Amino acid sequence: MKITVKKGAALKQKSPCLILGFFSGKLKSEQLAELDQKVSGALNRAIRSKEFTGAKGEFLLLHGGAETVAERVLLVGLGKETDFSLRTLRQTTSSTAQYLAQKQLGSFLLAFPQILLKKADLTERVQAIAEGLLLADYRYDRYLPKDKPGQPIALDRVALLISSTDNLSVAKDAVTAAEAITSGVCFARDLVNAPGNLKSPEYLAMQAVAMAEQSGIKVKLLDRRELERQGFGAMIGVAQGSERDPYLIVLEYRGGDKGEQPIALVGKGVVFDSGGISLKPGEKMDEMKMDMGGAATVLGTMQAAAQLKLPVNLVAVVPAVENMPSGTAIRPGDILTSLSGKTIEVLNTDAEGRLILADALTYVGRYQPRVVIDLATLTGACIIALGNQAAAVLGNHDGLIRKLLKAGEQSGERFWQLPLWDEYVELIKSDFADVKNTGGRAAGTITAAAFLQEFADQYTWAHLDIAGMAWAEQAKAGQPKGGTGFGVRALIEYLRGEQVDHN
Ligand code: BES
Ligand code: MN
Ligand code: ZN
Repeated sequence: MKITVKKGAALKQKSPCLILGFFSGKLKSEQLAELDQKVSGALNRAIRSKEFTGAKGEFLLLHGGAETVAERVLLVGLGKETDFSLRTLRQTTSSTAQYLAQKQLGSFLLAFPQILLKKADLTERVQAIAEGLLLADYRYDRYLPKDKPGQPIALDRVALLISSTDNLSVAKDAVTAAEAITSGVCFARDLVNAPGNLKSPEYLAMQAVAMAEQSGIKVKLLDRRELERQGFGAMIGVAQGSERDPYLIVLEYRGGDKGEQPIALVGKGVVFDSGGISLKPGEKMDEMKMDMGGAATVLGTMQAAAQLKLPVNLVAVVPAVENMPSGTAIRPGDILTSLSGKTIEVLNTDAEGRLILADALTYVGRYQPRVVIDLATLTGACIIALGNQAAAVLGNHDGLIRKLLKAGEQSGERFWQLPLWDEYVELIKSDFADVKNTGGRAAGTITAAAFLQEFADQYTWAHLDIAGMAWAEQAKAGQPKGGTGFGVRALIEYLRGEQVDHN
């Protein structure tokens, strides 16, 4: 899809479809009167009969006559102006694009003049619109027949109309940024959607290598032998039940100054989580191919950061493993010695994410990071707590958590903080080792984070539990069923705020 930005009067543009947005209760304007005249009063009749009120998500498609320059006009409801947000803008843009794609219209002109008025908001609003368009165009269809009749078509050319005279380049830059960011999101979605038979840890590693080479990012893989040699006991423990070899994927992007300490991203890369010997129930086990959602988001973020040429140094560490039950698998009761030297009693082999993350968090300390953020589909308890509306954020530094909450709000990828008081740490003390890998049913998301904290004590750290967010069970605006790429947009928003100012 190609998104262009141009200036001009909406009703004077040639297009297969002109899209006009309206706030509810604000259905009187010169523009509407002019348009009504051109469609012989059809518009006012639709407004009078309440077929179109401007409510959020409402559409009214009119065919133009000899009088209109555009072949069609689509009116889109933006809801109440007082409720308007970037989130609304992103969602309405996505659902508009999906509505038109379903109607086999892949080229159109978007005119939201009342939204793109103020220069101060232009960047974030154009970015939101472009993100909404690009994410609505995503599908994972490589195993589906091509050109099934009745399927929505791919978007082709979308022009965005802005009214004022001097902000064309600002708007164009915002579109370019949205393209970089959403290509990272879609890369992450593809990785999550890839089926488990294809998606071995090695496949994940090869995808990371290919992306890194294309993006000018340095990449290194540690294979099973190297992991054993260096003492990644927790990660090897999880991997040992699978026929497929584990890999530690390490990426380095240097956009900042040479001596500047990097920001580190760590992503859980369990390509399939059967639970191991503590086998999961069969229902919905297919969804556990998404247990590398944290890894996907980290890789997507690295790609987007490189494409945006962000002036920061980044390190990404992804432990990639498969969690399977077999004669060589770890058992409940086993004790593993982690890379940090701390011993871990494995009470439940299904609490595997924290085991591989323990070693990854220790390893990343070698890069002297100024901040470490890990992302993981870590606990079912997180879905019980927050459902599919927010990721949990916990950590050892309130300033970092505040920045992440803010980036989440701005990007529309929401986080909600859970406490990590010392009292919770008691719950993961073991009788036989330094720590145990489960803290019982209560506060499951928090005790998982308390476990991770044991391995993140050398630096400023935050943990994002994205269990409820990495996979969409139902399609919604801008998001088909399946992998979401959740977190790429929020992390990029955070990183854009972390550019060190050298003045
Ligand atoms: N990958 C799962 C968590 C998960 C569950 C993510 C559902 C997305 C959807 C994780 O490895 C897991 O199994 N966690 C256990 C931990 C428990 C054994 C302490 C859980 O949440 O039940
Ligand atoms: Mn598990
Ligand atoms: Zn898991």
